[in-house]
Amino acid sequence: MKIISTVHEMQAIAEDIRKNDLIGFVPTMGYLHEGHLALVRRARQLGNVTIASIFVNPIQFGPSEDLDKYPRDLDRDKALLEKEKTDILFFPAGTDMYPDHYSTFIDVKNIGDHLCGRNRVGHFTGVATVVAKLFNIVKPHFAVFGQKDFQQLKVIERMVKDLNMDVKIVSYPTVRESDGLAMSSRNTYLSPGERERALAINQSLKKAEKLVGDGLRNVAELKKAVTEILTSKEGVDIEYVSFCDTETLEDIDVIEKKALLAIACRVGKTRLIDNTILTEA
Ligand code: PAJ
Repeated sequence: MKIISTVHEMQAIAEDIRKNDLIGFVPTMGYLHEGHLALVRRARQLGNVTIASIFVNPIQFGPSEDLDKYPRDLDRDKALLEKEKTDILFFPAGTDMYPDHYSTFIDVKNIGDHLCGRNRVGHFTGVATVVAKLFNIVKPHFAVFGQKDFQQLKVIERMVKDLNMDVKIVSYPTVRESDGLAMSSRNTYLSPGERERALAINQSLKKAEKLVGDGLRNVAELKKAVTEILTSKEGVDIEYVSFCDTETLEDIDVIEKKALLAIACRVGKTRLIDNTILTEA
């Protein structure tokens, strides 16, 4: 695996590769787990040169968020990416990505304002901006994103469409631990007790799937059932439980055909998100 750490070199190499090969790209913030590696595998299946990036993007973290303590382990990440036969790791410095006088930001309205956008003001502007920059640097034909961050996926899809970016967005289902907890770099913050309590999130998603499968369509009743499971565990604080349209992410009152159920909770100090698509049986 080739490791490239400057924007300039990455652009020059990508320009060259693009002439003959299909570039698949997986952007990450590192501290890789099976969820990230599944995206790399999908990129390898679909393309013939696979590029992953690791960049803990400062502009998508709020002032009181975990930028400084975000977990990092470059050696371990490199070994995992090598094992998956990743061709190139792009690992830029913050000063190369955001030099002095950096001033350009991408604001995806509406989709970026719901769910996590309400509490994490500016977060999706940071995500859209870095992903647009990475697309210009890595020049991929397609990029793979996880459904675990469903709103992020929708923000990126919208941005690519609105700005006529020549990149195909491929989505990949959420990868879970055997007990159902969605894999996340932030799971490492959880104490054993918190880890146990965090299972309530997936359990509540499963309950909603079952209720919708059994014919319940009323969101108020579904929300009550989900909230009951989440609040049955002490130390799980709900940030939002949202039933919404899968494209606009606007709240809905009744499930028709399909809907997104998205949850954000704090378990201790750790903020966790998860979601499922609810469909009529
Ligand atoms: P990060 O949280 O490192 O995630 C990188 C990619 O892995 C994202 O597409 C995310 O949705 C996906 N992913 C994370 N956990 C997953 C899981 N359990 N199953 C499937 N996919 C999963 O998301 C980011 O980084 C950043 O916001 C980024 C897009 C890199 C921009 O900075």
